[in-house]
Amino acid sequence: MSRKYLIAGNWKMNMSASESVDLISEINSLVGQQIHTQVCICPPFTSLQKSSSLVEQSEVHLGAQNMSSEPSGAFTGEISAGMLRDLYVTFVILGHSERREYFGESNQSINRKVLAAVENNLKPIYCIGETLEERESDQTLAVIKTQIYEGLANYPLSEVDNLVLAYEPVWAIGTGKTATNEMAQEVHAYVRKLLTDIFGDTAASGVRILYGGSMKPENAKGLLAQPDVDGGLIGGASLNARSFCSIVEAATGD
Ligand code: PGA
Repeated sequence: MSRKYLIAGNWKMNMSASESVDLISEINSLVGQQIHTQVCICPPFTSLQKSSSLVEQSEVHLGAQNMSSEPSGAFTGEISAGMLRDLYVTFVILGHSERREYFGESNQSINRKVLAAVENNLKPIYCIGETLEERESDQTLAVIKTQIYEGLANYPLSEVDNLVLAYEPVWAIGTGKTATNEMAQEVHAYVRKLLTDIFGDTAASGVRILYGGSMKPENAKGLLAQPDVDGGLIGGASLNARSFCSIVEAATGD
């Protein structure tokens, strides 16, 4: 099955609302009309409202970096899936390793968010990945397996088309160290095998598996050429329109 590349920018806790307007406008003018590669920008919550009007007429989609698993109520500081939908958000990053490490998110709590996202017509970008210690002790595939089985528990087969996975080795995030093309492909192929075991061959072959962790214009082509790498989740390099758009172009083949 042919899968359309997805290049998603994870801005993390960067960019004021007005800085976001400038950056999105620049990205829009560079890649906002191309349709070969799907493009998604995930700014902070505070920039979503202004950003949604900017991408309305373009092919650039909007994503959030987190959300609550609860629909509404007494959850101070939280943002619900419905609130994101209201701002024309289509994707939501869930289970990023920074959320796991600094905010105590577990496979179980992330699973509740993943299920809440699809119930509300948001496409989850579910992040998985091993730490350096886990890689060095040969636990990578075991960690990935647990993250997939627990994080995707009870995920409805009818929603597999809306599921995106992001393999982000923790040791590669923001460090300048990237997994080699072979390392990325090995884990991506394993993720697809697990998805096949859970959802069956046809459904699993349509799921996009992104690579994340110091992806930049210089290494994007090699990573994206791997058969099971279907795009990228880009942190640092997404804060500059030219470098982000060069990665989109690497996916498009320009
Ligand atoms: P990086 O971040 O590209 O800066 O390594 C990726 C991510 O955390 O999603």
